[in-house]
Amino acid sequence: MPPPRLFALFTRRNVIALVLWVGTALLIFNLYYRGSYQSAKDWLHRPGPAHAPFTPPPIPVDDGLFHWQKLPVHYPVTSLIPLPSGAARPIPTIQHPASQEDTQAKAVRLERLAAVRDAFQHAWVGYRNYAWMADEVGPLSGERHNPFGGWAASLVDALDTLWIMDMKEQFEDAVEAIGELDFTTTEETTLNVFETTIRYLGGLLSAYDLSGAKYPSLLAKAVELGEMLLVAFDTPNRMPITRWDWKKARDGGLQEADSNVLVAELGSMTLELTRLSQTTGDGRFYDAVQRVMDEFDKQQMKTKLPGMWPITVNARDLDFISDTSYTLGAMADSVYEYLPKQHMLLGGRTEQYRKLYLNAAATFKEHNFYRPMTIDNADILFSALVQKAGEGRPAILDNSMQHLVCFAGGMVAIGARIFSRSDDLAIARRLVDGCIWAYQSMPNGLMAEVTHHIACDNAQSCEWNETRWYEELARQDSADSNGVSGAAYEARVRTRIRTHRLPPGYVAIDDTRYILRPEAIESLFIWYRISGDRTYQDKAWAMFQSIDKHTRTSIAHAALDDVTASPPTQADRMESFWMAETLKYFYLTFAEPSLVSLDEFVFNTEAHPFRRPGR
Ligand SMILES: *[C@@H]1O[C@H](CO)[C@@H](O)[C@H](O)[C@H]1NC(C)=O
Repeated sequence: MPPPRLFALFTRRNVIALVLWVGTALLIFNLYYRGSYQSAKDWLHRPGPAHAPFTPPPIPVDDGLFHWQKLPVHYPVTSLIPLPSGAARPIPTIQHPASQEDTQAKAVRLERLAAVRDAFQHAWVGYRNYAWMADEVGPLSGERHNPFGGWAASLVDALDTLWIMDMKEQFEDAVEAIGELDFTTTEETTLNVFETTIRYLGGLLSAYDLSGAKYPSLLAKAVELGEMLLVAFDTPNRMPITRWDWKKARDGGLQEADSNVLVAELGSMTLELTRLSQTTGDGRFYDAVQRVMDEFDKQQMKTKLPGMWPITVNARDLDFISDTSYTLGAMADSVYEYLPKQHMLLGGRTEQYRKLYLNAAATFKEHNFYRPMTIDNADILFSALVQKAGEGRPAILDNSMQHLVCFAGGMVAIGARIFSRSDDLAIARRLVDGCIWAYQSMPNGLMAEVTHHIACDNAQSCEWNETRWYEELARQDSADSNGVSGAAYEARVRTRIRTHRLPPGYVAIDDTRYILRPEAIESLFIWYRISGDRTYQDKAWAMFQSIDKHTRTSIAHAALDDVTASPPTQADRMESFWMAETLKYFYLTFAEPSLVSLDEFVFNTEAHPFRRPGR
């Protein structure tokens, strides 16, 4: 057969096939090239300064001092789980685009901003003058308090706020003082590993991030602390000990995780240790927390309220499913908060945290959120505690509300944006409004720590019904078990309302304190940044005025024992989150939205912003 002449190959079919093949090849090459270009870009924008890469200080061979990194590891991991690599996936933006502001509105805003800064300065000076290097200052007595290991918790926690509020001189003073902290010893016999992580490690890392990596001593201290914290993970199954006998570990003792652990303390150290690995390039920290989260992942859908994890879990035997109480409140909160945040910190490189969050959200939206009956028929949501789940009958809904739960509005709002669940935005707004309502409905404009309410039968429409409220109050009164009608019962209920100073709709105020907590303003701040709705600045201002008015002392600011009393009674305690979180969130609510943008930073549960890689 004669060989085909060349032009005979150029049939229409062949030409089309050739074009398709070349096109596909180009497309594949292009995608691949873009992928590696993206990772090159990521590398350029990798965390940490490009000009001065961080190297941990070398361990002196024998300086006669103790070093956590020199402790032999009893239960070494065989291979480290690496930080997810490759191209960052696009994550939808969180913040509302900047909008115009007229001169008068701006003047008002700047006045409020100055008032918040003034409050911070007042608290800082009180701490500086009375309790420098202690964990806390007593705002009434001026005494030094050391409930967090005695490593100057207030100072470390407030570092990044000093930076944000442009108090550079005080910031540099504080950074210098950091050098004196000795993380090899403490007077505390049992160390709370979670609190140490979120306050100290979070504080050091965010001050390092915000100040553009110009203060390497901050990172060096963070590493020292990280080395100590890693030792708490040195157990047979690598689950950390949350209430830690650090001395026993320091003496080389064998240790194992506890059988009864608060779920928040076990499951919310991911952001801090991940950021430490990202910043230093040392993968051990991320490995430590990722092992824990893989365990959470395995058991998420096997619990008695699938999608959520119970308040207490057994870390020793890896049983995260037996307990029957489920909440977004105290003792569980940040385990959920950290899921969308870890997704952001990892640049969306894995699907794991999206999956974990969406599973959990489906459950708490259905089971925990409820609309309380209020006298003004407010369209708001609270978050209840689910008890006795999975015991063969309907779970018991405890219609409580906690100040701590107020973080949920911000979490749901962030989740709605980054996972493109726009329906959840309305839920987030109602949660945020619920906490604002809880402030406004109280006599001094201050929300109490824990309250109880009546859940509406129908979340869509819910008319105020005084009879229903009275009935519920009578049920609270054990003396009223034999009948809820008649004049005597009404008189008793009225007395109950008076003695407990219950605003309409409140069934109980179980814990009357306000301890300078941040969660309400935290979610309000996030909602303002997402919605751009300036009326929330007015609501924040009302909140701030009530807080500042009632908590300010001659020294600093005081927790309140009873917000229902007029005036509320003050207590000799100012937790470090007042300067680290509450005042920071107020300040950022009145600042330009570009200051610590949610599209560039992710806040840990102590309000410490970490830079999102590649942003
Ligand atoms: C108000 O609540 C009472 C007691 O639960 C109930 O009997 C009554 O029907 C309610 N009223 C309205 C208008 O729903």
